Amino acid sequence: MPELAYLNGEIMPIEKAFVPIEDRGYQFGDAVYEYIASHDGKMFFVDDHISRLERSMKELSFPKVSLKTVKSAVEKLFKESQIKRAGIYIQISRAVDQRNHAFSNKEPVQIVMTVRALPEKHIHAKDGAAAITMEDYRWDRCDIKTVQLLPNILSKQKAVDKGAYDTIFISKEKIVREATSSNVFIIKNGSVVTHPLTNNILPGITRKVILEICQNKNIPFEERFFSLTDLYDADEVFLSGTTTEVLPIISIDNKAIADGKPGKLTKILYGELRLRAGVK
Ligand code: PDD
Repeated sequence: MPELAYLNGEIMPIEKAFVPIEDRGYQFGDAVYEYIASHDGKMFFVDDHISRLERSMKELSFPKVSLKTVKSAVEKLFKESQIKRAGIYIQISRAVDQRNHAFSNKEPVQIVMTVRALPEKHIHAKDGAAAITMEDYRWDRCDIKTVQLLPNILSKQKAVDKGAYDTIFISKEKIVREATSSNVFIIKNGSVVTHPLTNNILPGITRKVILEICQNKNIPFEERFFSLTDLYDADEVFLSGTTTEVLPIISIDNKAIADGKPGKLTKILYGELRLRAGVK
């Protein structure tokens, strides 16, 4: 089962794929991306990912890209790899062009994809993980999925250096936003709470699916701002994302969340999310 790359229409082994040094994604971070997961040979929420990719490009005034081409390329690459449990990365950069801050949008976009095997389950899925918090110092368009991820990677590394799994970003006003590559949920008195969709968080596809599950299962939920104190005092906390799935957070800044074990409702939502993906 080969791990493969797609480069502007051609499929090849990953180690054979190179982008030119004047790719604007490489030089300026002038590129958008998506990350799709598959379970048991089926990719999930592909149309949602393609729509979000389209929105990211539109917000950054990219030239028009045929989304049909992107979708059929993703499907072809995934099929050729024959990897049943895969992570599919798609990156579109504005162009290969002479380095210039201003862009002409006259050169074609660069479309790059990789498909690689993913572990069947997240390493912390069963026992949960620790998180730390940090002031959010990212830009104010975190709703756009760009490859400019320096604050995210530095904050993730800080968590790892402290023996934690991830960092949760908090605004200056102490509002809980999201983690470095996941959305954040708390559960308080039986209600599932997450940050509303604004420019300060990514409109996560897993987030959306979890809210749909709550709706269908009559689990109370709210999209509202909540504070760092609410986070510490929550009955349950979890992260959501394509690879994160539903990940219980059992301690934050070295303080246990409730009894320091994955919560009941978190486990239910994890199970429901996996059912939606056709796995137990
Ligand atoms: N990250 N918030 C941020 C900042 C993210 O980067 C992601 C996804 C999410 C969750 O979105 P979704 O449920 O659509 O995966 C929230 C991907 C997986 C990544 O960076 O690889």
